[in-house]
Amino acid sequence: MRPLQGQTILVTGGTAGIGKETARRLLRLGAQVVVVGRDGDRARAAIAELRRDTGNDRVDALLADLTLKRDAYRLAGELSTRYDRLHVLINNMGATRASRELTAEGIETTFAANVLAPYLLMEALLPMLTRAAPARIINITGGVPRGRIDLDNLQAERSYVGLSHYNQTKLALMAMSYATAERLRDSGVTLNVAYPGHAYTAINKDLPISAYPRAARPIIPLLRPLLPILYGHRAAVRASASSVYLASSPDAANLHGTYINSACLPVPWPDAVLDRRNRDAICALCEELATQITDFTR
Ligand SMILES: NC(=O)c1ccc[n+]([C@@H]2O[C@H](COP(=O)([O-])OP(=O)(O)OC[C@H]3O[C@@H](n4cnc5c(N)ncnc54)[C@H](OP(=O)(O)O)[C@@H]3O)[C@@H](O)[C@H]2O)c1
Repeated sequence: MRPLQGQTILVTGGTAGIGKETARRLLRLGAQVVVVGRDGDRARAAIAELRRDTGNDRVDALLADLTLKRDAYRLAGELSTRYDRLHVLINNMGATRASRELTAEGIETTFAANVLAPYLLMEALLPMLTRAAPARIINITGGVPRGRIDLDNLQAERSYVGLSHYNQTKLALMAMSYATAERLRDSGVTLNVAYPGHAYTAINKDLPISAYPRAARPIIPLLRPLLPILYGHRAAVRASASSVYLASSPDAANLHGTYINSACLPVPWPDAVLDRRNRDAICALCEELATQITDFTR
């Protein structure tokens, strides 16, 4: 029997990039996988490819723009009408923007994608995860998750450099994940964070030089031609290893509140995550944004 037979797994951002490689591996292990993307044609092409390639046809796609609260809640609703239980939630989708943008719901887009969407999906899907216990949540970090968190700039209200803000949102995701893991202790649902490693994918392919921190800008034109060679498809496959490990390995069954690197090894949490003031402020913001009534007419 294949080890994940009978398990239902949701992979956000599973129609391309690292998420599609994650879905491919999980399908090969026998899981039922639901991938999430925004576009019907891309999603149909992805599930056809995954079915053909793995011989496992138990893969479906759901559509949602996860920068929007209404789509995250609709996705959770649709999933719960199709499936009774969810064994693994992989919050893989991430985003970065060259310049500061607000969503139609008035939330800064990178924060909405990288922090709020995982928060909303964890909250909305917790009943399905609890019914499937032992169940697992995996949140995917990225960038250079180091340094301090600027609590006055969580939605880049004061300053914005694309990749610096991306790093801040990934640190914020980790802080929110650490706090949620504390809350879920003994719930039957584990929560861990994985760093995937670099891959040349949609998230970084077309970033303009202005999205990089000023000091890095002179070397970017020199590095760019090397990226597809060094970090092409094989890198995306490699980068799926840490989330697949947390989702499927018996060794990871008892991991909870752990941060692992791309080699699947536990590593210390950044200092900014260990600072309770950061965790409290970020969770409070997520809670406030989740409950805020949105003016959809904006
Ligand atoms: N690539 C790297 O070097 C790297 C390094 C470290 C960490 N990471 C992290 O790893 C994760 C996966 O990265 P990746 O490189 O695979 O990214 P990617 O190539 O940009 O991911 C593409 C996937 O995300 C979906 N997606 C994008 N925006 C979405 C939105 N607003 N709502 C719903 N789905 C959306 C796409 O759906 P469509 O089909 O609709 O486009 C597609 O399925 C991210 O969290 C990223 O931050 C990446």
